[in-house]
Amino acid sequence: MTDTATIAAELRRLLPHAHAPYSGVQVAAAVEGADGQVHFGVNVENAAYPQGVCAEASAISAAVTRGATSLRRVYLASSLPGLVWPCGGCRQKIFEFATPGCEVVTVGRNGETASATIEELLPHGFRLDPADVRRI
Ligand code: THU
Repeated sequence: MTDTATIAAELRRLLPHAHAPYSGVQVAAAVEGADGQVHFGVNVENAAYPQGVCAEASAISAAVTRGATSLRRVYLASSLPGLVWPCGGCRQKIFEFATPGCEVVTVGRNGETASATIEELLPHGFRLDPADVRRI
């Protein structure tokens, strides 16, 4: 496990890597796998607006690509003055991989933090048991 201050500093460093020419809002995310490895991502917007990808989705893709199968903590920072929380779609994306009690930590410009569990952010999230999925 890497401490929050170290991850917060890395998120700040990565913010300028965000591709956010349309909204002007840079977001960086980190996700910590069950094995303690931390994976990072930034938002990547597109001229065809709906094709943009949130920072959390980028970080989850990086984590899954590197073999992570579950997440125990998510960190978020942005260029906005206040603390930001994951959008609805990202709450569901986090929920897919979250271990119970997975913490979402949002970090402000001056290092201030707030946190909530994924269950608090997304009560009754949608889950499918692959065994129950009908295959034709
Ligand atoms: N954004 C994220 O990266 N994560 C969120 O949870 C909320 C929004 C991005 C999407 C878009 O590129 C920019 O922030 C403004 O909405």
